[in-house]
This record gives sequence, C-alpha cells and structure tokens, in this order.
Amino acid sequence: MAPIAAALILVPPPSLSLHPSQGVSLGDNVTLRCHLPRMAAWVRLYRNESTKSIEQKDKVQRMAKFSLNGIKKEDAVSYQCRYKGLKPPGTSQKSDPVELLVTDHSYPPPSISLSPEEHVDMGTNVTIQCWSKKYGVAFLLHKDGHSAPIQHQDPDGGTNATFALFRVTPADSGTYGCSYRIEGCCLLFSPLGDNVTLEVIPGPTPPGEERRSHGNLVVAVVRGCAAALVFGLGLYFVIDARSLWRQRDDSPGGEDS
Ligand SMILES: *[C@@H]1O[C@H](CO)[C@@H](O)[C@H](O)[C@H]1NC(C)=O
Ligand SMILES: *[C@@H]1O[C@H](CO)[C@@H](O)[C@H](O)[C@H]1NC(C)=O
Repeated sequence: MAPIAAALILVPPPSLSLHPSQGVSLGDNVTLRCHLPRMAAWVRLYRNESTKSIEQKDKVQRMAKFSLNGIKKEDAVSYQCRYKGLKPPGTSQKSDPVELLVTDHSYPPPSISLSPEEHVDMGTNVTIQCWSKKYGVAFLLHKDGHSAPIQHQDPDGGTNATFALFRVTPADSGTYGCSYRIEGCCLLFSPLGDNVTLEVIPGPTPPGEERRSHGNLVVAVVRGCAAALVFGLGLYFVIDARSLWRQRDDSPGGEDS
C-alpha cells in the first residue's frame, strides 16, 4: 500500500491532449501531446486501454508529440500515455483516456426536424427529431457554441431519435444539428446534417415560475451583500497595506526590496 501511494505522489500521471480535438475526418492528420510534469526516460502511447504500447519516445523534456497521419477507421479509438521519470525514478500511471472522434463523410448525414416551430414562447416544450436510413447506433444532438454534443440517445431499435427540450428559455435559442455513431469497431460518426434554428421569444414569467424568481431575488440580495463584504475587505486590506507601507517608509532603512 505505502510504496504504491509514494510512487503515485512521486510520479504523477501525465495528461494527453488531441490537436485538433474536434472536427477530425478520415484522412486528416492529428497530433497527440503527452504533457509531463518532469523529465522522462521514455514516454509510451497506448490505444484502447491496451497494455501494449504502440509508440515510444526516449528522453523527453516536458511534452512528447505523437503524430497520426492519414487517420484511418481503426485510429478512431481512445488513447492514453505513460512515462518513466528520471528523477525521482519510477513509472507513472496512464493518463486519463482521450477519445479521437472521427467523421466518415462516406455516410449520409441524418435528417432533422423541430416541433412545434422555430419561434416559440418561453416555457414551451420543444422536440427535435433526427433520423437516418439505417446505420446509426446512437444519435447525437449538437448545438452551435458547444464543442461536445449536448445530448445523446442510444438505439431504441429504430432509426430515429427524439430529443426533448423542456420549458425552453432564451438560453435554448440557437442552431441545432445531429449526427449518428456508425456501427462497428470505432468512434466513427456521420457528418452533421442540416441545421434547425430555435428562437425562444422572451416573455412574461410562465405560471409556476414565480416561486423560482422570488428565490432568485433572495439569491441576488445575498450575492449583493457578499459582494459588498468582499469589496469592504479588499478596501480594508488596501488601506492596511498602505499604512504598512508608510510605516516602512518612515522607519529608517526601511527599504528591503
Ligand atoms: C412540458 O413537459 C413537462 C414534463 O414532461 C410537463 O410536466 C409539462 O406539462 C409540459 N408542458 C407543456 C406546456 O406541454
Ligand atoms: C449549420 O450552422 C453552422 C453554424 O451555425 C454552419 O457553420 C454550418 O455551415 C451549417 N450547416 C448547414 C448544413 O447548414
């Protein structure tokens, strides 16, 4: 127990990042960067939680770069890295896995529809339907401004998915699209289909929301008080620091910086 704990503290795990991290299609080039907290004797790259590494770099300072050129289907998996520290010596745990999601443009994008309509009042329940002819094993709902899908749905035996947005607010306004995960080995996805645009018209607070807005008022008042307190404390410290400064200036030979 104790030696393992000591090793974990002495050799903290590295972290792995993908560049680019999204919008990767088959045939593209991707770089994996393994970030190390210290000098390493070697750094190894692993696929899909395998115990066998696929590549190794020796004598690495702060970061090891692994290039994947001409991304193939089989490359659309998860990756991890690990290193052997020099000082203190010891082998790290693997980094958290990162997933390389790849778009396969040979598949048709899914279709999308929005109901009841594109302009709705606040508080309306909106549904977005996505469907494709066959291939999908899961549908993903994307919203512009969000790098990751905002909802996903596993197969229900059919070829369509219904995403619900309950009691929409103006924050739900925006452009939505969907894609589906392609059946098979890997993290392969269809291209994004057409967009639908939702505009939520801000309106009077719907019934049943009054209690919540009352709560918001209380929260706002509490926040205001907290802000005043923080400001007051800040002022106090500034004044305090200034008087300290003055004292220091007054004292003979008070220069120490
Ligand atoms: C919206 O959906 C919620 C949850 O299913 C339901 O309670 C509510 O009555 C629905 N509102 C409208 C306007 O249909
Ligand atoms: C969907 O919207 C995004 C940005 O809002 C835009 O870049 C993209 O071209 C649109 N796609 C289609 C198929 O209209």
